[in-house]
Amino acid sequence: MTANELRAKFLKFMESKGHTIIPSASLVPQNDPTVLFTTAGMHPLVPYLLGEKHPGGARVANAQKCVRTGDIDEVGDNRHLTFFEMLGNWSFGDSQKTDGIGAGYFKREAIEWSFEFLTGEKWLGISPERIFVTVFKGDETAPKDEESIGIWQAQFKKAGLNAKVADDDGIWSDPDVKIFPLGRDDNWWEGGGQTAPGGPDTEMFFDTRPQEGYAAKTFGELVDAFRFIEIWNDVFMQYRKKAAGGYEPLNQKNVDTGMGVERTLAVLNGVETVFETELFEPLFRKIGEITGTEYGDFIKEYRIIADHLKAATFILAAGIVPSNVEHGYVLRRLIRRAIRYAKLLGVSRAFTVELAQVVVDMYQETYFELEGKRAFIFEELTKEEEKFRKTLEKGLKELKSQVHNSKVKALSGEIVFNLYQTFGFPIEMTRELAVEEGMEIDEAGFEKELRRHQELSRTASAGKFKGGLADHSEETTKLHTAAHLLLESLRRVLGNHISQKGSNITAERLRFDFTHGEKMTPEQIKQVEGLVNEQIDKDLPVRVEEMTVAKAKETGAMGAFESKYGEKVKVYFIGDFSKEICGGPHAEHTGALGHFKILKEESSSAGVRRIKAILATSQ
Ligand code: SER
Repeated sequence: MTANELRAKFLKFMESKGHTIIPSASLVPQNDPTVLFTTAGMHPLVPYLLGEKHPGGARVANAQKCVRTGDIDEVGDNRHLTFFEMLGNWSFGDSQKTDGIGAGYFKREAIEWSFEFLTGEKWLGISPERIFVTVFKGDETAPKDEESIGIWQAQFKKAGLNAKVADDDGIWSDPDVKIFPLGRDDNWWEGGGQTAPGGPDTEMFFDTRPQEGYAAKTFGELVDAFRFIEIWNDVFMQYRKKAAGGYEPLNQKNVDTGMGVERTLAVLNGVETVFETELFEPLFRKIGEITGTEYGDFIKEYRIIADHLKAATFILAAGIVPSNVEHGYVLRRLIRRAIRYAKLLGVSRAFTVELAQVVVDMYQETYFELEGKRAFIFEELTKEEEKFRKTLEKGLKELKSQVHNSKVKALSGEIVFNLYQTFGFPIEMTRELAVEEGMEIDEAGFEKELRRHQELSRTASAGKFKGGLADHSEETTKLHTAAHLLLESLRRVLGNHISQKGSNITAERLRFDFTHGEKMTPEQIKQVEGLVNEQIDKDLPVRVEEMTVAKAKETGAMGAFESKYGEKVKVYFIGDFSKEICGGPHAEHTGALGHFKILKEESSSAGVRRIKAILATSQ
């Protein structure tokens, strides 16, 4: 099966079930400041999952291009990718009954259709014997998903199988066990951001090695051994995270599904990894031609170069250019890491355009924007490659000599910063190179250097969008501090349901999105302005403290608590008025801000309002 066949079959199947086929949304979210890139098919659809009406109706499906940046440095092993495609079908609380049974398109339809598409002769034709599923086993938020268990059992029964359910220990305790109830880590899915929709899910796995027979192992062990590969996830999105913690039921019961194209293609074709599919082979062929090497001898290098330049091509096609902040920084990291790995294969000439060419040829029939952006993509790649090629060699020499001179086990912040500033080495690249030499880098020292130079926000280096600052000029910085005062003032005037949805700050003005269901009255706007200006008049000190996420939560600081890494965060305190997790930078005291004025208050999207405000220096 080819990728084109797989996408076409999926969309045709979903169309036959009443779905409107919609195009892939941009890789760069238009209205969602919680992520830099679209990371799942549901991302661009959040407003509709929360109740807005979709022009395509209550059932839609598509093939969505996605980028996940959390594991860039893991790419090279046999499962991580930055760019991938997701096939998905959605019910936006569709109340239409199907076959006259049930209350509408929810669990029953989602599961039945998943099973039909996976096993149907006309569709993927997978033997039901090779399918295993997981369901949510329940916790304090939602009960055990008995309904899905029942629906799955009925499906397997139709196929002549007596599907048994595993105990809560998740062990494959009997050859007939097909259904595994697992906990929150496995069977709960929700979007990023403080108030994202989410819910229990049921995941479908393909048994890649049935010849090994039944084994009394845990489900997790079978996944870790790459025997069971997840191919599809049906999320029953009926909750929404509350900013203050906990969940509330949504007014509508949604379905959000996601099937990974690369993985599904791999299992359907009986190959072990996504890298052995036609979505990578043409790229590997080209790398072989350029370098005169073989994939089998340089597996890691080939995978990194192919994945990174594929992702870079798509990010460029979305109109992003390499830079030192946010999307542009991720793009830069991808391109530069690919160039460094190509150097390990002996490449000392420009080559990235040749691979981008292959990417465009491979995908242009599916993602039409690529063809029109060909010239732009090639031009930007050439520029970035030229820039980096000039310094790469020298930078590597510098790094080597520093490694050899160094008596300590960590490269100092100054050295790391110099490699960044003078030789254009993204910090992640220096870290990777240092690790190869058995060393670490002084990350805190680097951050300190960086802050001093105010070149690149910490936020960007973490690959996350937080501050929304266009630059770190004095005016922008003051408006950033005003944004913190604004958030707290909105909460005091309108209530604690207010949370920040995003901000965009330039030297001229502040744009601030927040959750609120209705238009603010002129009176409320005045009150909020008044409260902000009151804090400015008090000339409150702005203080920053680094602490763990847990500690930040304890202090009651506002902010996104998605961090999984136990890393430290910065909390900015403005007097006793506001505390917020934030990457900075900020004014040192509020007296410097000038007079705060709200110019406009308007709707941004469903349940989200937008304020435009300025700081006037003379009142
Ligand atoms: N949002 C879910 C996922 O990413 C299903 O589409 O897996």
